[in-house]
Amino acid sequence: MKNRRKKFVIAIDGPASSGKSTAAKLLAKKLKCIYIDSGSMYRAAALYLKENNIDLENETALNEILNKINIEILYNSEKEENVILLNGKEVSMKIRNSEITNYSSIIAKKRIIRERMVWLQRKIAENQSIIMDGRDIGTVVFPDADFKFFLTASINERAKRRFLEMKDKSASSRIDDISLKKIKEDLKWRDNTDSTREISPLKMANNAIQIDTTNLTIEEQVQEIIDIIKNEITL
Ligand code: CDP
Repeated sequence: MKNRRKKFVIAIDGPASSGKSTAAKLLAKKLKCIYIDSGSMYRAAALYLKENNIDLENETALNEILNKINIEILYNSEKEENVILLNGKEVSMKIRNSEITNYSSIIAKKRIIRERMVWLQRKIAENQSIIMDGRDIGTVVFPDADFKFFLTASINERAKRRFLEMKDKSASSRIDDISLKKIKEDLKWRDNTDSTREISPLKMANNAIQIDTTNLTIEEQVQEIIDIIKNEITL
C-alpha cells in the first residue's frame, strides 16, 4: 500500500503585496494541496458590510449579520485559481477594488469579525493539508503550523507589484486612474492599520522564517520555501 502523506499546515504571513498569495498558490500546485488566501475572506466580509451599510460600532447588529454571511472558497481548475463566493454569488473581482481593500483593513480590527474568520479558517483545515496566507496565520490561526514563513519586500517594490497587478486585472481604459503614488499611500496606511491594531496585529511569529522577496522572482521565492520544507514534506 502507498504511504499516505502526513497532513500539514504551512502558514505564510506578511504585509500587502509581499508575495504571499502568489507563493501560496504556486506552492499549493507543487504540493498538490489547497491554498487559502485568508485576506479574501476579510475582503468578502467587508463587501457585505459595506453594501448593507452595517454600523461597525453596533456589536449586536454585527453579531446578527455575521450569521448571515456565508463565505466559500472554491477552486476553479480551469483557471487554476480560487473563486470567492459570498452568499452563493461570485465576488472574486469585486473584492479587489481599492475601496473594499481599505475597508477590509478597517473591519479586520473588530474582534467579533476576526473570531468568525479564524473559526472558518480552522474548519477548512480540519481534514486536509493546507497552505494559508494572511497576517495572523502563524501567530493566531495555526500557532502549531508545520512551517511558518514571513514574507517582506520594500515599500517601493510592493507598490510596483500592486500597480502591475491592478493594471493586469483592470480594463485597459481604466489604468490611467491608478496612480503609483496613491497605491503606495494606501499600502502604507494599511501596513500601519494592520500592524498597530489591538487584536492579532500583523507581526512575525517567533518561530517563522523570514524571506525578503524584494529582489526575488516568484520562482526564486517559491524555490526558497521548497528548499526549506522539502526534507519534511514530500513533493
Ligand atoms: O492582498 P493583500 O496582501 O493586499 O491583502 P489581503 O491579504 O487580501 O488582506 C486584506 C486585509 O485583510 C488586510 O489588509 C488585513 O487588514 C486583513 N487581513 C487580516 O486582518 N488577517 C488576515 N489573516 C488576512 C487579512
